[in-house]
Formats: sequence, structure tokens, C-alpha cells
Amino acid sequence: MCHVRKSHLFGGICLITCFILSFNFYWPRRYQLTRSGSPPICGVRVSHDTITPLKGQRTFIISAYKDNREGNIIRILGIVHHQKVKELYCYFCCNSNTNVYPTRAGIDIHQDRFGFPYGLADIICTEPPDCRAEFVSVHWSPSEVVHNLTSFRIRNRDPGQFTANFTVCFSTMFGNYSNVLQFIQTIEMYKILGAQKVTVYLNNCSRQMEEVLQYYTEEGTVEVIPWHIQRYLKPSKRWRYPSDGTEIGYYGQISALNDCIYRNMYSSKFVVLNDQDEIILPFKHRTWDTMMESLQRENPKVGIFLFENHIFPQTVVSNGTFTDTSSWNRVPGSNLLQYIHREPDRPNYFNARKMILDPRAVIQTSVHSTLKQYKNSKYVPLETALVYHCRGPLQRNLNRSSLIKDDNIWRYNESLIRNVNGMLNHFLT
Ligand SMILES: *[C@@H]1O[C@H](CO)[C@@H](O)[C@H](O)[C@H]1NC(C)=O
Ligand SMILES: *[C@@H]1O[C@H](CO)[C@@H](O)[C@H](O)[C@H]1NC(C)=O
Ligand SMILES: *[C@@H]1O[C@H](CO)[C@@H](O)[C@H](O)[C@H]1NC(C)=O
Ligand SMILES: *[C@@H]1O[C@H](CO)[C@@H](O)[C@H](O)[C@H]1NC(C)=O
Ligand SMILES: *[C@@H]1O[C@H](CO)[C@@H](O)[C@H](O)[C@H]1NC(C)=O
Ligand SMILES: *[C@@H]1O[C@H](CO)[C@@H](O)[C@H](O)[C@H]1NC(C)=O
Ligand SMILES: *[C@@H]1O[C@H](CO)[C@@H](O)[C@H](O)[C@H]1NC(C)=O
Repeated sequence: MCHVRKSHLFGGICLITCFILSFNFYWPRRYQLTRSGSPPICGVRVSHDTITPLKGQRTFIISAYKDNREGNIIRILGIVHHQKVKELYCYFCCNSNTNVYPTRAGIDIHQDRFGFPYGLADIICTEPPDCRAEFVSVHWSPSEVVHNLTSFRIRNRDPGQFTANFTVCFSTMFGNYSNVLQFIQTIEMYKILGAQKVTVYLNNCSRQMEEVLQYYTEEGTVEVIPWHIQRYLKPSKRWRYPSDGTEIGYYGQISALNDCIYRNMYSSKFVVLNDQDEIILPFKHRTWDTMMESLQRENPKVGIFLFENHIFPQTVVSNGTFTDTSSWNRVPGSNLLQYIHREPDRPNYFNARKMILDPRAVIQTSVHSTLKQYKNSKYVPLETALVYHCRGPLQRNLNRSSLIKDDNIWRYNESLIRNVNGMLNHFLT
């Protein structure tokens, strides 16, 4: 089982370590690759991409994270073929830069793959004792020459301080996304509600949206993560596999959401998982800060809060009497202040939920709930908040009087109009 020879590094602890690791991992051999004094062998070819293919291995690495919650665990997020990837090894470059130990990885494919051949996997390796690797490489074979491999910087090594109370994660933006006005209003609403940051996994958007993203990036609100998944896999626009030869669901939404949680694990107190056409709107409170403070006080064991999704169809328009919105006509896209009617829930139908969560309480997430976590989940009742989801109708045959009037968004009209106008003043001139 354990083929590690005695060495100055591991001598005394080999037995214990092998005993612990033999449950899931083992070191197949030990590789002495360079003598000290040679140029550093680690991190020679470091990937700076968000999706990096391992050639011929049906594996695409997203990011490597130290998981401080689980001892010496390095969790590498990667997209893998669910049947063909059975064996992977992590190559750590330990601090001396002289020895590299391939360790066998555990491969935990996330349960929510929705029938597609490719899905997100946690590639889990135990870092060798006394090793504080800055980089890690991955390969299916345990006998590679490490400097031939691409390495990935291990993030989250040093948990810093919060730089945000709330970070919103958008899963993939794709298909020439061009709803500029709604996007600007949505970002300004998040800021009013208490967000400091929005992480956008960008596949494709219109020219003008690129400029908007650039504006918010310079402002410090938006972080754009390039997400060119179609270079490597055939992405589907559907979430469930339609047996049409595509390879991964919804442009890799699940992968983006999980990466966003780990990326923001120590920089953000809360992470908000919703799409770009959704806003979690409180009823009882004015901001997410006060709402979450109250929800956490009432539910100390809960780390994942789920909010009901409600469709505000863009086919039913209500013009409020708001002044100062004339410049909005010059911006393409929908105007949120016109949509104040929501569809009623359908009985016997899955009513989706979206989440505000403590990222440190989550191990794996899906879209409408988490899959593995350290803390409990709670459904937040409709009296407290809902997900304002402004899009085309799901129940097309309903007329205005069959919808529920809900003008909660208008509570924010003054600050929203002021802030959108402030942004447009800079942006349009
Ligand atoms: C490493 O790469 C070199 C050239 O890039 C190649 O000649 C060599 O065979 C590779 N070694 C292994 C073990 O893959
Ligand atoms: C988080 O919220 C608190 C209170 O609402 C505020 O004082 C603090 O500045 C916020 N933190 C950040 C990083 O914006
Ligand atoms: C988005 O896709 C269109 C059409 O394929 C292309 O012309 C455009 O350059 C792409 N934009 C980005 C930002 O990739
Ligand atoms: C993208 O959207 C913009 C705005 O709606 C449109 O002008 C442009 O032609 C679209 N581009 C493509 C490649 O579809
Ligand atoms: C709302 O205003 C738009 C023009 O901005 C107009 O086309 C539409 O008919 C108005 N709808 C209602 C219900 O007043
Ligand atoms: C709206 O739909 C309801 C139920 O389908 C119907 O009774 C009502 O007459 C409709 N109202 C209008 C204005 O079409
Ligand atoms: C706009 O907001 C103000 C307070 O901020 C409120 O008094 C007013 O009723 C709101 N307007 C509408 C149409 O709801």
C-alpha cells in the first residue's frame, strides 16, 4: 500500500502518515528530481487561466484551494469526464523545492451533473507533512517529470480579513448578454442592499456590456472572471442534458458557483448566489445587513439561507410616475421599476430558491441548495424576503389581474434612481 521509502523528511512519521493516508491516498514513490542549487523546478509553467485543460486527460483545472477547515487538505476544483477520469495525482512542490511527492487524489464528482458527461469534481489531496507548497500540479500518472506539468497556485493559504460583507456571484454570463439597463440597476440595487462586490463569470456579452463591466471593475465593484469554456467543451444552454451531444450544462454554472464560494471564502462575510436577473429583496428590513443580522440571531446554527424565487414577467408593464429617469431611454435593456407584478406559485411545481450563505459553512453547492455543508440550511419565509426575478413569463396565459401586485422594489426608487443616474452621468459622457 505505502511505497514511500524512508527519508530524512519522513523517516519518523512515515508509519503514522501512511496509516492515516492509506484510507484514501497514498504516495506511490518518491521522486528526487533536482539537487538544491538547481533552478527552482516548481511553478515554472504556472497557469493564469480560469480553465486549464490537462492535455488528453479529459480534465480541466479551475483552481486549487487550501481548505483550512480540513487539516492538510488541498481542494482542486476541476471539470472531469464522469466515467473516464478515475485516477489523478497531485504533485506538490514543497518548500525546499528539491523534492516532489506525487500523492494520489480523491476524486469527488459533484452529484448535480444533470446527465451531462462532464461535471465538476473536487480533486482532493493531502499535502505532505512539513510541506508548504505554493503550487500544485495534477496528472493521471504518478511518474511524470514535474517541470513538464503546468502548476496552479494554491489559493486561500492565508485567510485574510473581510473586504466585503456581501459578495454576489453570477454564474456564467453568455450568449451576447446585452440587457444593459437592467444590469446597471441590479448592480446599484445590490450596492444599496449592502454588497461591496459582484463576481461575474464572463463567457460572452455585447460590446456595451463589456464597457459597463469595465466601468464597474474600475470602480472596484465587479470582478470579471473570464470563462471561455466553449474552447474546451461543448456547453449547453440547458441545465439538464438533452442528449444532443453537448458536454456540460448551462455553460458550467455549477463549476462557476463553487469556484466563486472558494474564491471569496475569506474575503466576504456572506456570498449571495443568484443570477444577473435576480435580486433578493427584503420586506421587513431595508438592507441585507440588517436582515442577515436578524436571521442569524434567530438561527445561530444556520449557515445557508434559502429565498423563494418569484417571477416578475416583463410582459406586464406598469409605469410609475418617476421623474429624472429620462436618460434611461438611451440605454438598451429592461427597466426594473416597470415590473411590479409577480406570478403566483404553481401547485405541484418546483419553486426554485436562491441563497445567501456563509461560504465557510459550505463544501459543495448546487444552484438551488448546497450539497455538502457544515451548517444547517433554512427556508426564509416570504414575509421576510423574496427573489425578485425579472424576466420573460413562465405562465404566459396569466393576465395582469391574475398576477400579484408587489411594488416592494419601489421602496428603493429614490436611491436607485439617484445612483443609476450618477453611474450613467459618468458612463454616457
Ligand atoms: C518532458 O518534456 C520533454 C520536452 O518537452 C520531453 O522530451 C520529455 O519526454 C518529457 N518527459 C516526460 C517524462 O514526460
Ligand atoms: C460591513 O457592514 C458594516 C456594518 O453595516 C460596515 O460598518 C462595514 O464597513 C462593512 N464592511 C465592508 C467591508 O464594507
Ligand atoms: C461574443 O460572441 C460574438 C458572436 O460569436 C462575438 O462576435 C464576440 O466577439 C464575443 N464577445 C466576447 C466578449 O467574447
Ligand atoms: C449583440 O447584441 C447587441 C445589442 O443587442 C447587438 O447590437 C449585436 O448585433 C449583437 N451581436 C451579435 C454577434 O449577436
Ligand atoms: C408605459 O410607458 C411606455 C413608454 O415608456 C408605453 O409604451 C406603455 O404603453 C406604457 N404602459 C402603460 C401600462 O401605461
Ligand atoms: C384575466 O383572467 C381571468 C382568469 O383567467 C379572467 O376571469 C379575467 O376576465 C381576465 N381579465 C382580463 C382583463 O382579461
Ligand atoms: C419612492 O420612495 C419614497 C421614499 O424613499 C417613497 O416615499 C415613495 O412612496 C416611493 N414612490 C413610490 C411610487 O413608491
